[in-house]
Amino acid sequence: MLNRRHILTAATIGGAAALFPLGRMMDPPKTRHVPEAPPEAPAAPAHAGDEDRSLAHAVPFAQAMPIPPVLRPTSTSASSEVYRIQMAETRVEIVKGLQSTVRAYGGCFPGPTIRALRGREVVIQQTNALDVPTTVHLHGGHTPSLSDGLPMDLIQPGGSREYRYPNNQVAASLWYHDHAHELEAENVYRGLHGAYLLSDPHESSLPLPNGEFDIPLLIRDARIEADGTLSYVSPYECPHMLVNGKERPHFAVAARKYRLRVYNVAPNRHLSLRFADGAHFTQIASDGGLLAAPTALDELTLTGAERAEIVVDFSRYPVGTSVVLENTAALDSERPEVLRFDITRKAEDPSRVPSVLATLPPVPKATVEREFFMETFPDTRINGRKYDPDRPDIETALGTSEIWTIHNWPNRRPAGVFHAPHSFHTHLVQFRLLDRDGRPPSPGEAGLKDTIAIYPGQTVRIAMTWNDYPGEYVYHCHHLVHSSHGQMGRIDVLPAEPKQPAARQSGK
Ligand code: C2O
Ligand code: CU
Repeated sequence: MLNRRHILTAATIGGAAALFPLGRMMDPPKTRHVPEAPPEAPAAPAHAGDEDRSLAHAVPFAQAMPIPPVLRPTSTSASSEVYRIQMAETRVEIVKGLQSTVRAYGGCFPGPTIRALRGREVVIQQTNALDVPTTVHLHGGHTPSLSDGLPMDLIQPGGSREYRYPNNQVAASLWYHDHAHELEAENVYRGLHGAYLLSDPHESSLPLPNGEFDIPLLIRDARIEADGTLSYVSPYECPHMLVNGKERPHFAVAARKYRLRVYNVAPNRHLSLRFADGAHFTQIASDGGLLAAPTALDELTLTGAERAEIVVDFSRYPVGTSVVLENTAALDSERPEVLRFDITRKAEDPSRVPSVLATLPPVPKATVEREFFMETFPDTRINGRKYDPDRPDIETALGTSEIWTIHNWPNRRPAGVFHAPHSFHTHLVQFRLLDRDGRPPSPGEAGLKDTIAIYPGQTVRIAMTWNDYPGEYVYHCHHLVHSSHGQMGRIDVLPAEPKQPAARQSGK
């Protein structure tokens, strides 16, 4: 498990600023400083000509946190739900009193929540009313290649495309987001992301908090200028932290247990979340579904695109009090506060967290091993290569189990060069973490994963089976500025055994 010092180091030396594709570059951040406690005093008033100061000190907790609306199907058949979503620019209030233009799914920022059931197909007709190309990827979904939202399967402005999701996998907090070639970082930053909550009979039979006590928290950073403009800049220039589209909101809760589905939808950074009073909470699920057993935590670190579900018991707080969720990986540009929970009422609480949550499938026994180097300098690459949609980097066969050893250090290590954290993600399948720097996974990382943090100097080994669907897929860094710059590879899952040299000679 990462200790705090390690995370701080990783955050401090993060190279994303130097890699950001815009003119506005930043020096690498200085040593991070987080005050012992958030100040009680409201922000200083804005001064003309001192925009950054007024932005950075915007009043926290000025707005209530919304819950993204659950999208209604346009039709339902015996085996599927059909939805329609239009991607379009929309004006929203992110910072209180300011109007910002975002790229939105269905007029919502974040996009509307899709609720799906295992075994029932979801069909989404996506229409692109933006002036940039898009594709839509269901992150964590076991999805046929044609519906996977590959970088070149673009929906041009004015076009539309149908995505079909079989939902042939266990209950999990998935999400959908843009994946357009070299544009995904900006498109996601500008708003193209939404939650996709897949349920199944086993999960819904558990006595976990549900209904109004089951809440997605989509967390990300942003920079809103004094006139409301959403600027696309590096995390080091983002003073604002958004939960469900509002800047550092407050949320009224009952004094009981809640299930919080925590998403790091920030395009380019990790978050380390803890309650200001150090209270423990219980992690029950990771990216791909329920853990085998709950695990107690006092801090939750999520790399870009990672999810965790936690159960928090607010009955420890008297009605009328508040507790703040903080990000201990806050950058110099930011305040640590993320979200304030206000305990406003008592409530019955029949929910509980069972000591056994799920039976995980066995860890795949690999027959193929591969090695990857996540490189930061001179550019973000994997094994020295930039993503080329026309070049398969890996071929495998349906049903093959593999172990991938992934290093976040260069194969030729130039002296004195530091490296960025990377977030490694594979499409199509959930994988299992075998070890990190030779040590077994922490309980929260021992379940089904589709995204994993690799901090500078680290090596992780993951195991997966390429099952479900043959076709073209990708794996990439989920710090999306890195993937947009080519830190991505193509894997082709072949329907049969990969061609052996012997097979090529079969015509003899
Ligand atoms: Cu969340 Cu390839 O993406
Ligand atoms: Cu990366």
